[in-house]
Amino acid sequence: MKKLRIGIIFGGRSGEHEVSVTSAASIFKHIDREKYDPVAIRIEKDGKWTLPDQPPTAMSAAEVIQQARASGAKAEAAGASDPALATLNLDAVFPILHGPYGEDGTVQGLLELANIPYVGPGVLASAAGMDKAVMKVLFAARGLPVCDWHGFVRRDWDRDRESVLTAIKKLGLPVFVKPANLGSSVGISKVKTPDELVPAIETALSFDRKVVVEAAVPDAREIECAVLGNDDPATSLPGEVIPSREFYDYEAKYLDEGSKTVIPADLPAATVAEVQRLSVEAFRAIDAAGLARVDFLLARGTGTIYLNEINTMPGFTTISMYSKMWEASGTSYRDLVDKLIQLALARHADKQTLKTSAL
Ligand SMILES: Nc1ncnc2c1ncn2[C@@H]1O[C@H](COP(=O)(O)OP(=O)(O)O)[C@@H](O)[C@H]1O
Ligand SMILES: [Mg+2]
Repeated sequence: MKKLRIGIIFGGRSGEHEVSVTSAASIFKHIDREKYDPVAIRIEKDGKWTLPDQPPTAMSAAEVIQQARASGAKAEAAGASDPALATLNLDAVFPILHGPYGEDGTVQGLLELANIPYVGPGVLASAAGMDKAVMKVLFAARGLPVCDWHGFVRRDWDRDRESVLTAIKKLGLPVFVKPANLGSSVGISKVKTPDELVPAIETALSFDRKVVVEAAVPDAREIECAVLGNDDPATSLPGEVIPSREFYDYEAKYLDEGSKTVIPADLPAATVAEVQRLSVEAFRAIDAAGLARVDFLLARGTGTIYLNEINTMPGFTTISMYSKMWEASGTSYRDLVDKLIQLALARHADKQTLKTSAL
């Protein structure tokens, strides 16, 4: 059987560039070479595309961040530059990009235009899953539990700050202030006192023109669930993250060794079933495909489950929550990569059967 050429697009312009490099390194290491021929396609932080001679090998985001800090600048990748996708003869693409300019529908749009099958959700679901305000509207429209929140754009803040503050006051304290379109907790603040609010909003506005403020879920456990499939997705056993810091911020995620994960999470059977049901609902609410990691906040006191967010291209190293939850549920990393590529091909094939005109 002819091997399929799979473009692995990694790196990217977002703050999650380093995580993406390590996700790609894991894919290169574990992809089934009997079936697939992976091709490295790297996007630098400035948006330049290159074809590196060597695939990435770093195994932790901390390693990539430390390398970048030590060199004082981004590493120059050797190889050809600005590949035209069409000349690479790819059978499919695995765009393992996290955050803006990759997880948000931009690369998905390029691949749609080029008619190349790709892993993960399409343009709309990717964009909706990236935008915390749009995501919440879609979740709420489907009756899914989200915490109280208020969203606004820079214009609202500049023109009528008092109205914005009045709306936020209704949420009480503490609140989480977040840029609508980012990831890895970048730009997020937990606000506990009224005087911290304005600086937190200004920080968030420096990362995005749209901001989401959420009522904090009290004493929250962080529960996650992995989803895999297209129209009839399967769910993994849920896992739990126990952050080393007050909340799961950037340091706790990538630099601090102290955060722990518990997989499977220690939850009553009924809660496991509810988390799995809500994960599929969240996946369908944005019309996702391929994969997603759905994150919950579980109030320890009341047991209430809140849907926090859906990630349509979650961290994908062998030690990432997504792959570890599947491993605990009986699917190996290697099989996961294989299934994701097959799901991409199936979705693309299905789309080819659609009429494109009335003629
Ligand atoms: N409403 C909330 N209540 C309690 N903790 C929250 C809330 N929103 C965010 N957090 C904390 O902040 C972290 C990052 O927020 P999240 O919305 O998941 O952003 P990101 O997309 O950057 O991961 C969460 O993992 C959690 O620790
Ligand atoms: Mg998160």
